[in-house]
Amino acid sequence: MRYKSTSIKSKWLKTKWLLRAAKIRSYVPQTLLFSRSSLGSMLSRYSTVYFKPTGGTGGFHIVRITKAGNGYQTQHNSAKKRFPTRDALYGHLKKRAKGRSFLMQKGIKLAAANGRPFDIRVMVQKSVGGVWKSTALFTKVGRPGKVATNYHQGGDLGYFQQTMSKAGFSKSRIKEKEAELKRLGTSVGRLFDKRISGFRELGLDVALDARGRAWILEVNTRPQFYPLRRMNKSMYRRIMSYARKYGRKG
Ligand SMILES: Nc1ncnc2c1ncn2[C@@H]1O[C@H](COP(=O)(O)OP(=O)(O)O)[C@@H](O)[C@H]1O
Ligand SMILES: [Mg+2]
Repeated sequence: MRYKSTSIKSKWLKTKWLLRAAKIRSYVPQTLLFSRSSLGSMLSRYSTVYFKPTGGTGGFHIVRITKAGNGYQTQHNSAKKRFPTRDALYGHLKKRAKGRSFLMQKGIKLAAANGRPFDIRVMVQKSVGGVWKSTALFTKVGRPGKVATNYHQGGDLGYFQQTMSKAGFSKSRIKEKEAELKRLGTSVGRLFDKRISGFRELGLDVALDARGRAWILEVNTRPQFYPLRRMNKSMYRRIMSYARKYGRKG
């Protein structure tokens, strides 16, 4: 994909940027670089912790860690494993990491629509005039029994309002959340611009917890949207009309 928009792979660097902005910080679930001691402090604070590659994408290599009895359980895709002690768990994760950098993040219990957990993609793009705009909002509805909602993990794309309504949010609450997420998208765009120049598009992965509070799981700098082409042509065309201006072809 050779087009003009800055790309940053490190989720850790991007998370640090988010944490530096007072208005955005409260949207970021606690995140630490994986180490023996950070694993300990995350597990003492949260009942669920996500373990994910700092440079990962597509929902691959994501492990959910939960407490089970006196020990711990991990889940990768749909495979579960148990570990009697924190040391055994650490050893397993360390082996999985194979020397690559991983993050640990507070687990958010995703809101669910018809029993299927989902998260939200906020597509943010910069106009030729330099103004950030949230150009699309859609949901990624996870396949039951999986750890990640990504399209590459069998997740389905959905309409924001429809998914939210299935999840039990009222019409007025849905409108309120839509406005909040769009504002959040443009704030993140402006923030990223202050760090490095040349961003033209961002895709925020935002989780809603059962109470409807929004959490930024990650910010993609090479967001995919080709699956939208099949779901909703007008949404796809709107994104593409911005994307063509920076040389993106699809
Ligand atoms: N902290 C978390 N709490 C709950 N679910 C998470 C968390 N982190 C990741 N996930 C799940 O895994 C998916 C992929 O994680 P993400 O951070 O977006 O990495 P990737 O770059 O692989 O898409 C998310 O869309 C979400 O479904
Ligand atoms: Mg993602």
